[in-house]
Amino acid sequence: MLQGRTTISKFLIEQLRGADDQADLAALLVDVTAAVKAIASMTAKGALGGYLGSLGTENVQGETQKKLDVLSNNAVIQACEWGGLVAGMASEEMEEPYVLPRQFERGAFLLVFDPLDGSSNIDVNVSVGTIFSVLRHSKIGDPSVTDYLRPGIEQVAAGYAIYGPSTMMVITVGKGTHGFTLDREIGNFILTHPDLKIPEDTTEFAINASNERFWEPPVQRYVAECKAGKTGDRGCDFNTRWIASMVADVHRILMRGGIFMYPKDAKDPGKPWRLRLMYEANPIALIVEQAGGAASTGRARILEVTPAALHQRVPVMLGSKNEIERLDRYHREYDNGDDKPFASPLFKDRSLYGGENRA
Ligand code: F6P
Repeated sequence: MLQGRTTISKFLIEQLRGADDQADLAALLVDVTAAVKAIASMTAKGALGGYLGSLGTENVQGETQKKLDVLSNNAVIQACEWGGLVAGMASEEMEEPYVLPRQFERGAFLLVFDPLDGSSNIDVNVSVGTIFSVLRHSKIGDPSVTDYLRPGIEQVAAGYAIYGPSTMMVITVGKGTHGFTLDREIGNFILTHPDLKIPEDTTEFAINASNERFWEPPVQRYVAECKAGKTGDRGCDFNTRWIASMVADVHRILMRGGIFMYPKDAKDPGKPWRLRLMYEANPIALIVEQAGGAASTGRARILEVTPAALHQRVPVMLGSKNEIERLDRYHREYDNGDDKPFASPLFKDRSLYGGENRA
């Protein structure tokens, strides 16, 4: 029964009615939902589909490719290459941008995506997701790599799908952030979470705590204060969550607030950041900002970082606004040397920044 319910296509057509190529953008997003449905069906079959396990190959990041990484990548390409809506596509799973076969008309958009984020969780049946970002391509001819290197503020749409107990899509076209749930009986996404809002304050944070000794001091300070709870400077207890699947952690934050951090760390000096700017940080940052949250590297707004490479990585801190602003302040204080290196119990100064910690 569709009566009284808003399907994702109806919603997008209404949101994008009018100007120029907006109908094309709506059509492209509907194509993305077709890929998402195919991926949802594969992930839901689990071991019965024969899709689990690794391929024995590595992607451009040097990460082991799962069968489902590659199948999901193909699903997005096949759903979006034919319609004359994109000029090209780039993905986590492909070193170079995908050049459309000759027979397909070129469109006005670039689609950048991570087909199966958190795929290391697939074999343990934990939620994974697809993340995507849409940029405009105004030039004639196939795009070069540099055509993709646009800051996140230029995204015309962004979103993710989460394959969990239910499959959901969360989308923004710059007019708020909206969530849709897949009704498997009718095969359509239905608007279930209009105008999502992330509370400005929170007492919940997500970070891979095993990296604690490798973080920069401002992040160590933030987490130490949260962990000190009621007895510390923050004066209240905090809760932690870490699913190790960005879409699942971000989805929780959209539903009830919180922050997510994957900061710089010194564990592997050749790889100080984990998450990719163009198809992880940027689309999620737009979703979060459109829901009233904030997204920062600790030193800059994520959406204002101009990418230098397709697969560039960045530090990521996002979610409830007031906590992200606090993290930005801690980074500023540290960089300016304003943070006190000396602890005085009398004045409640922190002892965290011993001289030896300062970079
Ligand atoms: O590729 C990124 C990712 O899988 C994210 O989805 C997730 O947040 C993170 O890596 C998990 O990292 P870790 O393995 O350090 O917990």
